[in-house]
Amino acid sequence: LLSIADLSPAEFTKLVLNASSHKAAVKAAFAAGQVPPKPLHGALTGKTVAMMFNKRSTRTRVSTEAAVQMMSGHPMFLGKDDIQLGVNESLYDTSVVISSMTSCMVARVGAHHEVADLAKDSSVPVINALSSDFHPLQTIADFQTIHESLPSRQPSPSSLGLEGLNVAWIGDSNNVLFDLAIGCVKMGVNIAVASPTGYGIPDAMRALILSASAGVANPGQLRETTVPEEAIRDADILVTDTWVSMGQEEESKRRIKAFAGYQITNELAKRGGAKPDWKFMHCLPRHQEEVDDEVFYGPRSLVFPEAENRLWAAVSALEAFVVNKGKIL
Ligand code: CP
Ligand code: NVA
Repeated sequence: LLSIADLSPAEFTKLVLNASSHKAAVKAAFAAGQVPPKPLHGALTGKTVAMMFNKRSTRTRVSTEAAVQMMSGHPMFLGKDDIQLGVNESLYDTSVVISSMTSCMVARVGAHHEVADLAKDSSVPVINALSSDFHPLQTIADFQTIHESLPSRQPSPSSLGLEGLNVAWIGDSNNVLFDLAIGCVKMGVNIAVASPTGYGIPDAMRALILSASAGVANPGQLRETTVPEEAIRDADILVTDTWVSMGQEEESKRRIKAFAGYQITNELAKRGGAKPDWKFMHCLPRHQEEVDDEVFYGPRSLVFPEAENRLWAAVSALEAFVVNKGKIL
């Protein structure tokens, strides 16, 4: 699982719905003092999941470790100072060796080709835990959050029933946006992106996002602007992420200056003409500059259910790719 681009609309829909149903079943079991129900309990017995993270992480690390544990497997966290990769050993050698001893590699990398190369040479499934281009586990959790916040929308086998919804992304065009936008196009959700000049979607990425409409009856439309208010018009959900992704710290001052006026506030949403019941999402970690406290901690904010859903997204992905070997049932 390298990107949402790899999934058909039906596969993506199933991953999201499975995440949601496992959440309900496990919570009910825990409330009754029981272990997680089958098919999760015991699903990874005797199996080790290697977690190779060369960048820091709260949600992705904790959710993956907790998901593997819930499925009775062993999560093996390998930080960048723990293994030879990148200092003493190539990606190829690392991939062949680690995949010969484990049942899955979950990898957080810098450049996207690093996780793609790991997958190419691995004998076990590889799950992208964030690369320069994509964050598929986040997108599964994000759509689970949207799905759960709109219970009147009825899913079908190939879509979550969210057609016509308007998402506005206000901020940097980054890895989290790219997979979210691909998910939106596949699910018939319109996405309007406002980024400052010079921080928009690269041409090759735009082409990939638009190609997600292939075979989709009512694909979501992508709109791009440099004016936050334009993206916000009629939005149901406002989304943002950090303006300075990991690895861009040296550009911090320049970026914060370039993104002036992009902070999500109630005033900005009102000025832009968001729908009256608009909601707010953010993958976290969050900084004051991209969204103020009033919105972030306010009643419109879905950020904490969104963060919790990372656990259920990890469960769903491990079930599909490790237990069911890529068959998304
Ligand atoms: N959203 C997310 O991936 O957070 P972490 O960097 O803490 O894993
Ligand atoms: N865009 C951020 C996401 C962190 C979860 C980054 O790449 O650092």
